[in-house]
Formats: sequence, structure tokens, C-alpha cells
Amino acid sequence: DKVCVLSSFRHARIPFHKVNISIIMFDFRENILLTQLQIGNLPRLTRKLDTIQDQTTDSRQCMACSYISVSLPGPVRRHKDRAQNNATTNISPRTQANLRLRLVDMSNSEQALDSTNEAVNKASNEATNPSFAPQHILVTGGAGFIGANFVHWVARNHPQAHMTVLDALTYAGKRENLDGVPAANLTFVHGNICDAELVESLFSGLNQRSAAAVPPIDAIVHFAAESHNDNSILDASPFLNTNVTGTYVLLEAARRHDIRFHDISTDEVYGDLALDEQRKFTELSPYKPSSPYSASKAASDHLVRAWHRTHGLKTTISNCSNNYGPYQHVEKFIPRQITNILAGIRPKLYGQGLAVRDWISVEDHCSAIWTILTRGRIGETYLVGANGEYNNIDVLRMILKLMGRDANDFDHVNDRPGGDKRYAIDATKLQTELGWVPKYTDFKEGLAATIDWYRAHESWWMPDKAGTEEKYRKQGH
Ligand code: NAD
Ligand code: TYD
Repeated sequence: DKVCVLSSFRHARIPFHKVNISIIMFDFRENILLTQLQIGNLPRLTRKLDTIQDQTTDSRQCMACSYISVSLPGPVRRHKDRAQNNATTNISPRTQANLRLRLVDMSNSEQALDSTNEAVNKASNEATNPSFAPQHILVTGGAGFIGANFVHWVARNHPQAHMTVLDALTYAGKRENLDGVPAANLTFVHGNICDAELVESLFSGLNQRSAAAVPPIDAIVHFAAESHNDNSILDASPFLNTNVTGTYVLLEAARRHDIRFHDISTDEVYGDLALDEQRKFTELSPYKPSSPYSASKAASDHLVRAWHRTHGLKTTISNCSNNYGPYQHVEKFIPRQITNILAGIRPKLYGQGLAVRDWISVEDHCSAIWTILTRGRIGETYLVGANGEYNNIDVLRMILKLMGRDANDFDHVNDRPGGDKRYAIDATKLQTELGWVPKYTDFKEGLAATIDWYRAHESWWMPDKAGTEEKYRKQGH
């Protein structure tokens, strides 16, 4: 977490190799200057850096010297090329890989100041967020709603990464959700995350059909879960198996193979907020899950945290608010109402519909996951949300209006026992530390696009519709 910024100031007549350099150690967490070391000239600096790099095997410490700003006065800019060459060729290849040399016209004080500030900011960002470029990601639950969106998103935005999807294809997963992902990016394995032998075989390469062309798995992004509160009230056992035992099996595999592990979790682990308060969840909110689903997700989070602390596993966790978008099962609030209207069934609102959810487009969730996976700090948790708080009745009325129906054209049904009142995310940490911003912040527009998707994909949702409604009818929903 410490950053070193090197800057040199010299008079035009002093040769470059005699430039005086100092190392400033600044703790960006505490905002304090730790130390300022006079190193001397550039050759001494490079020897010093190589020593630092040689002495450390921990990549996090190496990152402490990842950014160097060498500032030159204007009149010697004609030496620029030579200076840069000298500077870089004196440094060992390993250190060079971590260095950025930058030449600044110090006779222009404004430019010099801007450049120093930029260097400090960049150094801060890089030192606290060492970037990781996954080559082959094991995506568990990649045939479900968010997992499938993530696989499509990665294939579109980072096509160099291969993905192996491990999915049990429960009622919530469909192989066809991955149609259209280029074969070069995807290996699909039909199987259960609780099956330790199968999981292990993925790492030893036995099940990688195109093993020769595909690099070894270097990250797990763990979506697989039983994900619906109402189901967990009827029968919690699959939730304990998948969400607790399944996470344990994956953590153990990740530990054996020293694999980066990103856990996809939910804001529901924090329980709920009151309708009449301003407070939002933060990374420091206490765990207080209400339902068997959220309790099982909280247990999963605790296992991930323990494997990081006890075993040093390289983990990150993201706790996201309610997602909407394509491929979401018709049992969930928004798709249920849209498909009810399309199927000629009156929408169903639990209780008075005053419960508040903080909606985020699944695309924005996917970009946040990638940001955290590649630049998040190991061992940290990041909350993901896009300031999309609406109560259920308002969302339902928006859907009705967008679909040309009367705003009161729905039924009130039984509320969920123990149902959470309000979720709201404060995503400041993700935004300020990693620079993530949501792209799809017009909720009404997002709802309209989602309605269009369900309209155009009747054959995708229709087979699940009758069974889902029958299950709800029995629950009084
Ligand atoms: P989903 O129910 O749509 O998909 C779950 C997927 O996991 C399915 O493809 C299913 O077949 C697979 N799966 C289930 N059990 C499995 C097992 N034992 N082995 C292998 N695969 C198995 O869920 P989702 O909405 O896409 O949620 C994905 C993750 O995101 C979950 O962990 C959930 O807790 C979390 N999350 C969801 C939301 C949301 O709004 N949906 C919000 C925040 C976090
Ligand atoms: P849901 O999509 O199940 O997500 P969550 O995990 O947040 O509970 O439900 C979102 C909200 O919508 C929740 O307050 C329950 C309510 N709801 C309805 O009013 N009608 C419905 O048909 C469903 C499924 C949910």
C-alpha cells in the first residue's frame, strides 16, 4: 500500500547520469509522508531498485516501485531519447517491466506540477491496485442469469481471456444462454460445484477439451448459487449444499492451485434498511441476513474471508444489489411481471409494494466484476450499486405503463415472510479506489430494453412460465 514516486530536479548543465533522485514513500491510506530518501544518481537508483526487486518475492511489495517519474528541466530535452535509453537499459528486464519513465519539462512549472500530481495519482492507483490479466477463468454458474451475461461481456470486451463454464444446469441454468459466445472463448462443463473430483479435474486439465490451445485456469469467478429467496423459504437444503458446501469445494481447489478467487455475493447479507432512513450499506455494514438464501450467501462470504485470512488465498468479494436484464429467470420480480403481461396474466405485487430495491443493469454489474477481478485489492470486499432505488409498486407501474397497460392493472398477493424492507448500496469505495462508474443509469430506459428482450424471446421463457406460476400460486404469491 506504499507508493514510491521518484523525481529528479537538476540544472541544465549537469549531465543526466548525475541527476539527483529521491524516493518519496507516501502512505495513501493514511495520507502521510513516510520517508524521503536521497538515492543519488540514476545508476545508483537502478541498482537500488533491482535490489528492492530481488529481495522481495511478494508482488504486492514489488508494486511499491511500479511508477517512476523522472523530471528533466526544459533545456536538456534534446537528450531525451538518450536519457530514456540510458535509464531503461541500465535496469534489469524484471524491473523494467514494472517501470514507466516519464520526461517532463520542468521549466514549465504548471506542467511540472500537473505531471507530478498525475504521477502520484497513477502511482497510488497502481500500487494499491496491481492489475491482473486473467488468461483462463473458471466461471461457475455461467449458464445462469448474471453468469451468462458475464461470459458474453468478457467475450465481447476481453476476447483474449478463455472461460470454462461449470454449471449444473439446474432449473435456473440453460446451456442456450451461452449461444453466440465464440467457441474459441468457451469450454462448457456440465457438472456440480460440490463434486470435488470434477472440480479438481478441471485444474489438472483432464476435462479441458482444447487443453493444448488453452492456458491453465488462473482465476475463479464464482456465480453458482441457489439464488431465489422464495425458494429458500420452501426448502433451504439446496441452498446449504450449493451456497455453502459448493463454495468450500471451490475454495479448497483454489487453495491447492493458488488461484485468484472472486466471489459474487449480494447486498442481502447485510439484512435490510428502514424505509425512512437515508443510510445505505457500506463495506463496513454488519452481516445480518434475514432469509435462508441470504444466510447461506453470508456463510459463503465468511468462508471466502476465512480462506484469505487463514490460508492466504487471493480473494476478492463483490456484494451487488438487485440486477435486471436479459436471461433472468421468470421467478424474479421484473421478469415475472413482464412475462405475466405478455402471457395475459395479471402482475402480482407482494403486500403493498413498498419494499425498496436498488436496481442495477446486469451489464454494469459485469463491468464492476471485471474491474474488481483485475484491479481489486486482494482480501477486500467491494459493494456494487448504481443508485437505482425504487419501491416495488413504482417499478410495477413503470412496467405497466411501458407496456401500454393501466397503472392499476395488477393483483396484491401475500407478502414474503420476513421480507426485507429496503436495500441501498453506497458504492463509493469501488468508484473512488478503482474508478468504476455505471454506464446504464437510466432505469426506465433499462426496463424498456428488458421488456423488448422478453418480447423477442418468448421461446426462451415460455417453457418455465406455467410451472413457476403454479409454484407461486401454492405459496399464495
Ligand atoms: P441464477 O439462479 O440465475 O443462476 C445460478 C446458476 O448457477 C444457474 O446456471 C445454475 O444452473 C447454476 N448452479 C446452481 N447450483 C449449482 C451447482 N451446485 N453447481 C453448478 N452450478 C450450479 O442466479 P443469478 O441471479 O445469476 O445469480 C448469480 C450469483 O449472483 C449468485 O451467487 C447470487 O447470489 C448473486 N447475486 C445475484 C443478484 C441478482 O439480482 N440476481 C444480485 C446480487 C448477487
Ligand atoms: P426478487 O426479484 O425476488 O428479489 P429479492 O432477492 O430482492 O427479494 O423480489 C424483489 C422484490 O419484489 C421483493 O421485495 C419481493 C417483490 N416481489 C413482488 O412484489 N412480486 C413478485 O412476483 C416477486 C417475485 C417479488
